[in-house]
Order: sequence, then C-alpha cells, then structure tokens
Amino acid sequence: MEIIISNLTKKYFKKNKKNIVLDNINVNFKYGKLYMIIGKSGAGKTSLLKCISQITKIDYGNIMIKNIVVNKLNDKELSNFRNNNIGFIFQNYNLLDFLTVEENVILPSLKNKKYCNKSKKRLENLLEYVGLKDKSEYFPTELSGGEQQRVAIARALINDPDIILADEPTGNIDNENKDNIIKLFKKLTQENKCIIVVTHDNEILKYADEIYTLNKGKLDKYDK
Ligand SMILES: Nc1ncnc2c1ncn2[C@@H]1O[C@H](COP(=O)(O)OP(=O)(O)OP(=O)(O)O)[C@@H](O)[C@H]1O
Ligand SMILES: [Mg+2]
Repeated sequence: MEIIISNLTKKYFKKNKKNIVLDNINVNFKYGKLYMIIGKSGAGKTSLLKCISQITKIDYGNIMIKNIVVNKLNDKELSNFRNNNIGFIFQNYNLLDFLTVEENVILPSLKNKKYCNKSKKRLENLLEYVGLKDKSEYFPTELSGGEQQRVAIARALINDPDIILADEPTGNIDNENKDNIIKLFKKLTQENKCIIVVTHDNEILKYADEIYTLNKGKLDKYDK
C-alpha cells in the first residue's frame, strides 16, 4: 500500500503575488517506511503535509490513499477519513488549552466508534510512552514546549492511524525523549504504518528509510 501523489501543485496568493510552494510533485510514500523531508524554512514542508491530509486544499493534482482520491472527498467524508487513517503532529502542537493532557489525547477517539472502547487503555500506554503519565491532569499552559509536543504526538497516535504525518516532532524535546519517539516511529513502520517526518534535526536523519529535500517547489530524493 502507498500514498500516491500525482502532479500536486499548491500556490498561495498574497497581495497579487503568486508563491508556488509545491510545483507538480509526483511521489509515492509506501506503508512500512519512515520518510523524512528536509528543506529550508519557508520551503513548503508544512504545506506539503497539510496538502497530503487535505487540511489545506490543493490547486492541482491528486492524492490517493487506499484507492480513495482524498482531494475529491467532501468535508464530512474528509473528516471521517482523516480520523480513521491519519495522525497529524502539528509544528505548533495545536492543543486545546481548556482541555487537560488526557482530554486532549483522547479527543480524536471520541468520534471513532472503532477506538472508543479501546482508547482508555491506549491512552494510558501512550502517556506512559511519551513520559507524561504523571501529568495527565495538567493543562497545556502548565507544560513546557517539549511536553506539549509529546502530548501532540500521543494525540496523533490515539486512533492507531496507518499514516502519521509529523511536522518537526523532535524540534523541542531532549535526547532521551527524542530517542523514544524515534524508536516508536521505527516500531510503527514494522507494523506497516507510513510515517512522514518533516525535520530540521540532522541527528535523526540516520533513522530514515528514505530522505527527500523540498526546494523551490520540487521534491527530490536525497542520498544519505
Ligand atoms: N495561508 C497562507 N497564505 C499565504 N502564504 C502562505 C500560507 N501558508 C504558508 N504560506 C507561505 O508558504 C511558504 C511555505 O510555508 P510552509 O509553512 O509550508 O514552510 P516550511 O517549509 O514548513 O517552513 P518552516 O521550516 O519554517 O516550518 C512560506 O513562504 C509561507 O509564507
Ligand atoms: Mg513548517
């Protein structure tokens, strides 16, 4: 199985100026692999992940996952599709400040009948794994940046998605927790998940199965 991206093009317009951030990208991401994408700030890495998950609408091309052309789904279908298939770890975490750590993490599973019953146990395991079991009752504003990032990681994994899109998931965390997160990603690829990590962190590149660079709208394979 794979994510098949064909002719993906994304432009932004601002004050009549056109900015082509993704320029006719063709790439397949296979399940069972850990991909990493590097590139300068502003190159379009976050845009690419948001286009794959259709958080951001694309201008041209197709994104096909499990024989579904994701960019053709309506909002309701898309919301269900994402909830069942994609875990997104946001660069800026996107936690809800009025919910506790455990409420933030469990939230995506409330919509998902398949995971609702199992999710309590999963919640405990995930919080333990990311080292936040003793802070489950804290609010995001009471956490450090790295702790918030780990909440965002646990939340992305609560529904056991096949696809994990991670936008700089190790940007703010110490080496021990970083190792844990990378080990977890590696373990998930063995469970045939597809993981795409955007990163500025050269230290973690060695764990990638494949690395791509994004530059001037083009995505190219990068040899380690
Ligand atoms: N909603 C928007 N409207 C207009 N321009 C946008 C919008 N979102 C992003 N851009 C532009 O698209 C370009 C790529 O942004 P993006 O966030 O994808 O970069 P990035 O590679 O993730 O950068 P960083 O490494 O700093 O996170 C930037 O020049 C940005 O200004
Ligand atoms: Mg970014």
